[in-house]
Order: sequence, then C-alpha cells, then structure tokens
Amino acid sequence: MRNPILVALDVPTAEQALSLVRELAPVVGGFKVGSELFTAAGPDLVRSIRATGASVFLDLKFHDIPHTVSRAVAAAVRLDVQMLTVHTSGGLAMLQAAEQSAQHTASQTGRTAPLVLGVTVLTSLDGAALAEVGCDDHVGRQVERLASLAVRAGLRGLVCSPLEVAGLRQVLPTRMQLVTPGIRPEGSDPGDQRRTLTPAEALEAGADWLVIGRPITASPNPREAAEKILASLPKDRRS
Ligand code: C5P
Repeated sequence: MRNPILVALDVPTAEQALSLVRELAPVVGGFKVGSELFTAAGPDLVRSIRATGASVFLDLKFHDIPHTVSRAVAAAVRLDVQMLTVHTSGGLAMLQAAEQSAQHTASQTGRTAPLVLGVTVLTSLDGAALAEVGCDDHVGRQVERLASLAVRAGLRGLVCSPLEVAGLRQVLPTRMQLVTPGIRPEGSDPGDQRRTLTPAEALEAGADWLVIGRPITASPNPREAAEKILASLPKDRRS
C-alpha cells in the first residue's frame, strides 16, 4: 500500500504550488490540482509537478457530452496525471467514454491508465438543493445510485465524503478505490468542513486515499504537519 495522503494544492499561483510540492513530495503520496490552480497556472504546472516525480490528481470534474469528456480525458492522460475526476451525473455513456479513453490513450502512449474517479452528489448539496435540480431522492440514496452507475460503467474509483465511506464499502466491489476529502487530524481547525474524520478513522472506514488541504498547506510548517499525519497512520500505510 502506498502513502495515501493527497495534498490539495488550493493556492492561486504556480510558484506557491511548486514550493509546496518541493517541500512535501518526500512525505506524501501526491498532489491534487483543482479548478482554481489549473485555470490560473494550466498544464505547464502539471508538467512541472510531474517533472519532480510526484503524482498528480487532476480534479477538474469533467461533465459534458461523451465525445468531449473522452477528448478531455485523453488530454489529461497525455499530461501523465495519475487520477482525474468526472461527474457521475453525466450518465453511463459519458462515464464509459471517460474510462475507455483513459485506457486507450494510456496504451497508445505507453503509460499506466490514470484512475478515473466518479464524483457523486457534491457535499454542498442537501436534500432541498437536490430537489431543486429535479432529484427527489434522499442524498444517501442518490449517492448509492450514482456510485452503482460508476461501477456499471467500469470506473475503478469514487470520490466520497468521509461519512459515506463505510456505507459505500459495504455495497461496492472491493476493486473500487475510495478517495475522501473532509479529513481533519485530531484537534485541528475544521474550517468550513462540517462532517470530518481523522486520517486514521477514514482509512479504518475503508478509504484508500485522503485529500488533505489546509491542515497541511495552512500550517506554519507544512512538512512537519504532513509528517505528523503520516505518523498517525497504521504502519503499512506510511511508505
Ligand atoms: O483544506 P481542506 O482539507 O478542507 O481541502 C479539501 C479539498 O477537497 C479541497 O480541495 C476541496 O475542494 C476538496 N473537496 C472537499 N469536499 C468535497 C469535495 C472536494 O473538501 N466534497
């Protein structure tokens, strides 16, 4: 098992991102590049992070017609990212197109296919907000419905909230890798996160990867914060 810590690089510039990457790469499993940083710093930043040898999780949550998503995934594979996200509400054909494009482009370019992760219901949506967009089901049931769709489409992983991990583990095939944000080490500031687990609790519940941002990046000593989190994990998850 690899080091499960994925640091969310929620910073506005390439310089800040690369400085964190240089400091943290030896003690974490990879780095998440989201919409803010990618829109500001673009594919060159992803190439620079990959040039250090660190893994990249490109979190752009693709959601479009299958053809367009397929092309976007192919472009991400050519950037040599290790994980990327798509919205499962884009439908079965879109999810299949994403997975097939990841596999096909990887084999064409001699790379390992990135893990295409399905995003189910955004944790910012509650039952009322879901009803506004035409879904009258409970949030939990909608998460399970979209998770099953991802499995049917051949996806190999999902992003889920810490409190969904244990439930999804019960119903999903074991091959599905679960990536969870909303992680807060014991005693740390929850910020705007409402329902959190500690890193060790999330792994215990069945998460494979932990997305951790501010507890590391907003710390006065990010390297020390990451090392402390790593030391709190079971021995077999620390390397
Ligand atoms: O700083 P913090 O640890 O809260 O960062 C968590 C990261 O995970 C952020 O990049 C945030 O956008 C992302 N995320 C989240 N909750 C979700 C989905 C993604 O916090 N449900």
